[in-house]
Amino acid sequence: MSDASSTALESKNPKNSKDQNRMSDDKDTNLTVPDNLPGISSWKKRRHLLDTKDLSVEEVEALITVAKLCKDIHSKGRAPLTVLSHKVVANLFYENSTRTRSSFELAARKLGASVLNLDIRMSSVAKGETIEDTARTLVSMGVDAVVQRHSSSGSAHKLAELLKDEVHVLNAGDGWNAHPTQALLDLFSMQETGKSIKGRKVAIIGDITHSRVARSNIWLLQKLGAEIHVAGPPTLVPVQLDTFGVTVHERLDPAIKDADFVIALRLQLERQDEGLIPSIGEYKRLYRLDHERIKRCKPDVRVLHPGPVNRGIEITDDLVDDNKVSLVNLQVANGIAVRMAVLYLLMFDESDEG
Ligand code: CP
Repeated sequence: MSDASSTALESKNPKNSKDQNRMSDDKDTNLTVPDNLPGISSWKKRRHLLDTKDLSVEEVEALITVAKLCKDIHSKGRAPLTVLSHKVVANLFYENSTRTRSSFELAARKLGASVLNLDIRMSSVAKGETIEDTARTLVSMGVDAVVQRHSSSGSAHKLAELLKDEVHVLNAGDGWNAHPTQALLDLFSMQETGKSIKGRKVAIIGDITHSRVARSNIWLLQKLGAEIHVAGPPTLVPVQLDTFGVTVHERLDPAIKDADFVIALRLQLERQDEGLIPSIGEYKRLYRLDHERIKRCKPDVRVLHPGPVNRGIEITDDLVDDNKVSLVNLQVANGIAVRMAVLYLLMFDESDEG
């Protein structure tokens, strides 16, 4: 990347010319993005990341470019950078998480931000504090971004509407609704196989109805020109999904036939109590992915799973651990680079102000 075709991002704020020069001279703390990248100007205007639905193709492509730069920096051991060194990111996870919470924390630290992990169980939420009041309290303490996971669909949108310009809201999963960074890291991982997404067949298997991962992936991948097929028990596939351009199958085989990518979803075992799954044995017999079944896909098919995996239920142990086919480990690793890119694109504009 030549100096003429790129912009050192710290130079966006001319107020801090001393810092600019220091950071421009110090390539080890610098993140340089092409200044003519379509989509960057839209990201500069964007305050929150709530879903993939409202991202433009150009914004997605810009994010993927920045994620590649972040992955390169990360893999060369150049992090932590200083681009968000004046920023504070708060993790508010009202639901359990291993991958999303950890990778948001690592991503924020790698960009130089401070991270506050609120322990919800020990917080005043237990005394009845609302999610809005919790977030507002943190904003009053100077938090710049709230990464929120909550079981209530629409909770991230509600928070963003309430707090408007006071803070960046990043949706880390809201109920059944959306999990945008998961879909973005899935896309990034698919593209790393060398395949473009346009015209590819992507099959999503399992509990579509209760899956925020499925929803965010459908919005995102369709936008990029993928052909989406789903299969799952009829009780776990929303009616009229076909009106959104998705091809719905009850059986697994036609859904995965000639597929380029297959995304297996976590079976939410608690749904068994609601009578939505006949039995785990029946689910495995009809929908579990294994080496034999994926022979119906394209020979170079790649299998994804957002995690956590119910080993042996959605996917066999052999398949999930077969790194020639399974992208599961890559997805987890790419979560850091993609979340670095999201935090950077949303937050950097103001980061030199402090
Ligand atoms: N994929 C995903 O959201 O995993 P966690 O629940 O571990 O964050």
